[in-house]
Amino acid sequence: MAESILIEGSTRAEKYETLPSQLKKLIAEETDLISILANTSAVLKETFGFFWIGFYIVRGQVLKLGPFQGSLACMEINFGKGVCGTAWERKETLIVSNVDEFPGHIACSSFSKSEIVIPVIKNQNVVAVLDIDSTELADFSETDALFLNKLCQWLSFYF
Ligand code: SME
Repeated sequence: MAESILIEGSTRAEKYETLPSQLKKLIAEETDLISILANTSAVLKETFGFFWIGFYIVRGQVLKLGPFQGSLACMEINFGKGVCGTAWERKETLIVSNVDEFPGHIACSSFSKSEIVIPVIKNQNVVAVLDIDSTELADFSETDALFLNKLCQWLSFYF
């Protein structure tokens, strides 16, 4: 049976503090990338209740849909396209307060109002992006960016 994990804290910032140690315990003996990304998605979804959270993995010239939690999503995103492809191109985290104002935003769901995308970088190359969507406008801040970047740095080890 899978171990359950307890993420303490009432605010998002507090939860971000306790999540890494718990997640590391959960993943401790695992080496399979897909299993790790799948359970990381589940933990983030359960802990924060994000509308959509998942990974797009670099496969040649495109991002392919990887493990995620949420509704049906587009399966392929080109380099430089949408928020995900732009984060890949720029190699930087993008916080989009209002997706309707982001030129070229790819709408997988009309419920999505704001978004954060963090590149997973290994040896200076983007190997994947972590994409999180919210039904609230301006739901993501530098606090999210800081923690999620640390998480992605840690995950880059498994690629
Ligand atoms: N909105 C993203 C596409 C992926 S979905 O949000 C799951 C984008 O513009 O790249």
